[in-house]
Amino acid sequence: MIYLDHAATTPLAPEVAEAMAPWLTAGAVGNASSLHAAGRRARAAVEDARDRVAAAVGVTPLEVLFTSGGTEADGSAIKGLVWAARQAGRGTAVVTTAIEHHAVLESCEWLADHQGVDVTAVGVEPDGIVDADRLLDAVDDAGAGDTALVSVMAANNELGTLQPLDVIGPALAERGVALHTDAVQAFGRIPLAVDVWQPTAMALSAHKFGGPTGVGVLVLRRDATPHPLLHGGAQERGVRSGTLNVAGIVGLGVAAELAARRQPAEHDRVSALRDRMIAALTAIDGIALNGHPERRLPGHVHLAVTGVDAETLLMALDRAGVACSTGSACQSGAARRSHVLDAIGAAADAAHIRLTLGATTTADDVDAATRIVADAVAGLTADSVGAVSGPDGEG
Ligand SMILES: Cc1ncc(COP(=O)(O)O)c(C=O)c1O
Repeated sequence: MIYLDHAATTPLAPEVAEAMAPWLTAGAVGNASSLHAAGRRARAAVEDARDRVAAAVGVTPLEVLFTSGGTEADGSAIKGLVWAARQAGRGTAVVTTAIEHHAVLESCEWLADHQGVDVTAVGVEPDGIVDADRLLDAVDDAGAGDTALVSVMAANNELGTLQPLDVIGPALAERGVALHTDAVQAFGRIPLAVDVWQPTAMALSAHKFGGPTGVGVLVLRRDATPHPLLHGGAQERGVRSGTLNVAGIVGLGVAAELAARRQPAEHDRVSALRDRMIAALTAIDGIALNGHPERRLPGHVHLAVTGVDAETLLMALDRAGVACSTGSACQSGAARRSHVLDAIGAAADAAHIRLTLGATTTADDVDAATRIVADAVAGLTADSVGAVSGPDGEG
């Protein structure tokens, strides 16, 4: 199989599996909150991972809180910071963008529907990038003092487009407005400029950078005190109660360190492969690139294929040994058009497919997959099946 779905999840790195193994063997024991020797060993492993993540991200260990993944980190930041603002008598308006991951958008929608929070989702340009001035105008319209939080992702999971946080971050800091950024797709693929962005909160997910599923990070500034979503043992600065997932956290720590160390070289290697694939495929009649050609993640190829059915194309590629996705990995199989495709006004008479390259992708993979995609599209165009666009999903 040629795996070109690294935005959905990445293969577990061998070094990560090795580091996790002792915590997953029969008889392994360790609650990081226990005071006995086994508990202290688990605590030491967790704190070692926290140090590695902090160094990889460029924050202090105190600012690294472990969660069950990106979804929990997004929801905890958004709901928790809005609830805290409301209790402090500050404004509760939220400004976000129309192309955020559902973990962000639906947290915002829930606050709007259940708690009357005023949410503005700013549209994006046809290239999949939000205009910074337009976003800041929305903050000014809501009133900086009335805005509890702005949530803008660092990189979009479907298109791979990079958002202008280097402009938005400092402008929000000047206004005294808190920023949450979903950096789930960005970490390990581009540098996170935390000193420039100055986020109050940031979400990461281990399985997007060679770590295990089910573990992530809420990077939370030391002075931020969101209300918790979960109550109990008051672990993780009281923001995230629950016995820590020691094996997952150990794996996350090693994965974060490796991803940060390899990021510069991997960026150059993978983006060269991406550009080769884009050049070859967009040279074919009826195939166009979605999203900004340069301001995108190194591994993201997102294509509009005119006159072809997305599911049929995906299945043909799967049969030929190429694993990729329609827009993004499927969300409970629901065939609903992606909100990201809607936001960029993507053609309705085209299949939209996402091929995402990563650490395990070789030049041979890319060349073989390019041929397979070209052949599949040629076959389907000849068959001239009806045209529908790709379904919505997550990943
Ligand atoms: C941008 C983005 N945010 C959040 C998530 C959710 O992360 P997790 O799968 O760890 O819950 C994903 C992945 O699905 C993502 O791509």
